[in-house]
Amino acid sequence: MATILAIESSCDETSASVCVDGKILSNHIANQTVHEQYGGVVPELASRAHMQNIVPVVDVALKNANIDLSVVDAIAFTQAPGLIGSLLVGAQFAKSLALSLNKPLIAVHHMQAHVLANLIDDPKPEFPFLCLTVSGGHTQIVKASSPNELKVIGETIDDAAGEAFDKSAKLLGLPYPGGPLIDKYAQQGNPTAFKFAEPQIPELNFSFSGLKTSVLYFLQAKQKEDPEFINKHVNDLCASIQSTIINILMKKVKKAVQQTGITNVCIAGGVSANSGLRTTLTEWGEKNGWKTFIPQFQYCTDNAAMIAITAYYKYLQADFVDLSVSPTARANW
Ligand code: KG4
Ligand code: ZN
Repeated sequence: MATILAIESSCDETSASVCVDGKILSNHIANQTVHEQYGGVVPELASRAHMQNIVPVVDVALKNANIDLSVVDAIAFTQAPGLIGSLLVGAQFAKSLALSLNKPLIAVHHMQAHVLANLIDDPKPEFPFLCLTVSGGHTQIVKASSPNELKVIGETIDDAAGEAFDKSAKLLGLPYPGGPLIDKYAQQGNPTAFKFAEPQIPELNFSFSGLKTSVLYFLQAKQKEDPEFINKHVNDLCASIQSTIINILMKKVKKAVQQTGITNVCIAGGVSANSGLRTTLTEWGEKNGWKTFIPQFQYCTDNAAMIAITAYYKYLQADFVDLSVSPTARANW
């Protein structure tokens, strides 16, 4: 029996999860609303909120799992990448617990965890599988040969897909984070109403900075003719922007399948909560004979359950770290 308590604090969500033998028993997430008024995450405020949240969040996760701290076999935490102040809070807390309980400590890479969120529920993808990992900070196509053997085979050369959503939303006057709002308005809109530039980037890489510029110039021109343009067309604008982002992503996924011959295809990360992307992946899967996998909503945006499941596979290999480990803001894998 392996009972793991995992902590995630890389950005603006404080989360804790309990996992027993690869089964998630709890996944508690405290969101930080303090950042909304600033139009983005303020690192110093995020660290302070993590410090306030971490004890109650861990308590709730243990309580929801009906587990006492004394039966925990290992403590896991997000080591990288993320905001350094935020990571430090989770890392220090996890280290203190591991020391006081005399239990092993497991350091988890946040991006590996997003991918392995696909191993939480059945049906699970078979190895090797491909995963499109799309979040606020990353856009990657990952080839997973086993839980601990992951290779990035394509990535963004500038903005991440989540930034493309959030920056476009800002241009439309929507509050941060705009991704979920674009998703909401897009459901009432026409995705072919407006056309935005799709970049031609080689290999399996992505670029999203041109889309933001294309949306900006388009809106400036339209608003000169009619200052109410955005208000009148917000649904169609959201649907068209969303559909452009999804097209950019899915064309590269298709290319990755063709290049690797791998037909188990997953998505992960905050943007995989997008309803348009979820539907498109399923449709393209049916059309092209791929097996597709999408994590539950609660395992798409930042959460500790994905840290716990990754830690479980590390636990099986006794992949532990000692108390001298430090978190890092950037980390390749
Ligand atoms: O993985 P995540 O929670 O945090 C990072 O590690 O970055 O991803 C956050 C990103 C934000 O850019 C947010 O706008 C986007 O995921 N997002 C969405 C949706 N839900 C979250 N983007 C589009 N549609 C959604 N439904
Ligand atoms: Zn994330």
